[in-house]
Amino acid sequence: MITFRDYYNNEVKMSFADHPFSDHPKHVWVICRYGSKWLLTRHKDRGLEFPGGKVEKGETAEHAAMREVMEETGGVVQQLKYVGQYFVAGKAGHIVKNVYYAIISEMKKKSNYLETHGPVLVDRFPSHLAQQAEYSFMMKDKVLPSALHHINNLEKTM
Ligand code: GTP
Repeated sequence: MITFRDYYNNEVKMSFADHPFSDHPKHVWVICRYGSKWLLTRHKDRGLEFPGGKVEKGETAEHAAMREVMEETGGVVQQLKYVGQYFVAGKAGHIVKNVYYAIISEMKKKSNYLETHGPVLVDRFPSHLAQQAEYSFMMKDKVLPSALHHINNLEKTM
């Protein structure tokens, strides 16, 4: 388990164990790979980030992950792997979020990407992400680098 502060100075606990904070997390975040690129979405307020959102009533976290990827990017998830879970002690209560790694097999063109402007493919992330105004706060703490490190190891088993 690692503990750190996020972009807004909230405390975050992140773990790669099997659902350490909640068996029924209400949020999901999906690190998406399409061919040799990372698939992001451009959120209308927050900027570039991996797709994700809230788990709806009656839905599993895995289903929410696949739905959010489709809604925000048009990406079809071919393979989905649980990566880890993090806990954010926010000012207005805490949230628990599952992180997944998804292999995307195809991109569907959509007329509407909900609260985002749709898909953005990148080869790599700029250095000093925390200073990049184009990127969302969600991409600016230790969740992303530690998850990417873990995914590197996971990929050998996929
Ligand atoms: P809506 O209810 O959809 O309007 O979203 P919201 O932003 O009001 O609430 P949400 O439950 O999504 O998030 C509550 C707070 O938790 C946010 O304002 C952030 O401070 C924090 N939070 C949510 N997701 C993340 C995340 O991925 N990383 C970090 N560090 N904080 C997050």
